[in-house]
Amino acid sequence: MDSFTIKGPCRLNGSVSVGGAKNAMLPLMAATIFTGGKCTLTNVPDLRDTRTMMQLLEVLGIPSSLEDGTLNVDASKVTSFEAPYELVRTMRASIYALGPLVARFGRARVSMPGGCAWGPRPIDLHLQGLKALGAEIRIDHGYIDALADRLKGAEIILSIPSVGATVNLLLAAVLAEGMTVIENAAREPEITVLAEALKAAGAIIEGEGTSRIEIEGVDEIKPFEYRVIPDRIEAGTFAAAAAITGGRVEINDCEPAHMSAVIDKLRACGAEVDVSGATMIVTGPDRIEAVDLDTGYYPAFPTDMQAQMMAVLCLADGASSIVEHVYSDRFTHVPELKRFGARITLEGNVAVVSGVESLQGAPVMATDIRASSALILAALVAEGETRILRIYHIDRGYEKIESKLKAMGASIERISG
Ligand code: EPZ
Repeated sequence: MDSFTIKGPCRLNGSVSVGGAKNAMLPLMAATIFTGGKCTLTNVPDLRDTRTMMQLLEVLGIPSSLEDGTLNVDASKVTSFEAPYELVRTMRASIYALGPLVARFGRARVSMPGGCAWGPRPIDLHLQGLKALGAEIRIDHGYIDALADRLKGAEIILSIPSVGATVNLLLAAVLAEGMTVIENAAREPEITVLAEALKAAGAIIEGEGTSRIEIEGVDEIKPFEYRVIPDRIEAGTFAAAAAITGGRVEINDCEPAHMSAVIDKLRACGAEVDVSGATMIVTGPDRIEAVDLDTGYYPAFPTDMQAQMMAVLCLADGASSIVEHVYSDRFTHVPELKRFGARITLEGNVAVVSGVESLQGAPVMATDIRASSALILAALVAEGETRILRIYHIDRGYEKIESKLKAMGASIERISG
């Protein structure tokens, strides 16, 4: 398994271009399933998750190829309706196959996703919504069997504005008979762009980006082309890297409008953030200021930036509290950050970070995509050498992160094997 060796401290200086958004790309790739033809996605990042979703499409009989950020998918024929455990366990978003398969073919057999490093990841809202649309759902030997003659529109109220459930139910409802309303829908930009792509392919959808989405079912969704939006979490991660190292980073090809809560918190901790069009210039302060933050559902501060901001606040002048409201215990990065000398106490879903003057390099282990990026941030500014193990986690969500950081002055090497 690959690892990173990072020598710190460094002060990043330079520019970086942000890639397409992993969490926008995955639903769009799943949406190709019900088009019956050739689709093209551009600005697609070459991530482990991209390859996993391509493997899943392949298993369903849908070949695809990725060349210089362009993904061509041929969904002319689907030969299987089963998403196997081997794929679903490596990437929870494989569950997105459920909606389009049931919507178009009336059947799907998708493995239950396992938990992840920070606890169970239920899919009860996905299944309740599909049942409301008339699907018969059975759990059999760890697989979800879904059957439906034709899905029928329904009023669905999500108890949590779940991104995944909103994606799956949107994908199911576009071909259902009649009107579907999703109340308390997720409002993430990734949902908005999925709806836009589906509307360009013939779907009738209103309210995307708000808590109430209305979908009038149609008989077919045509093949579509779509350019994936910039990854707001990758952009936020590089902005946090500028802040923690006290450097100056020009972040290009990003969408600052999708990152207001992150920009606010970076400014609050003393970073300068100058926004102009698709470029953000982030200049880190000499000393980070302590700030409190609560994660929440979009447009609140994203849980996917919680670990990265925690790394930044480890060096603050004072104590910060971080409250994680989206997941029960998304703090697997805490013991690893403490190995750098960070001072963090945990009480339920509240982490209190008492800032220190400096961190020391240490061997640490990545546990999930965003925790890994937090460890990289800490390693960039820690004194001495850091070895980060299991960096396959980072490769799931960040394309060529080491070359992007090296180009800005970081001393980071990938050790294969
Ligand atoms: C998406 O995951 C993202 N993944 C996650 O990003 C992100 O952390 C999360 O949304 C929240 O923003 C993708 O888009 C591929 P949820 P998802 O359903 O859809 C609970 C990354 O690093 N819940 O919005 O799985 C759930 O346990 C990843 O890129 C239920 O209880 O998240 C959680 O507490 C990590 N029942 C909360 O809702 C359900 O049926 C939000 O989860 C579904 C979710």
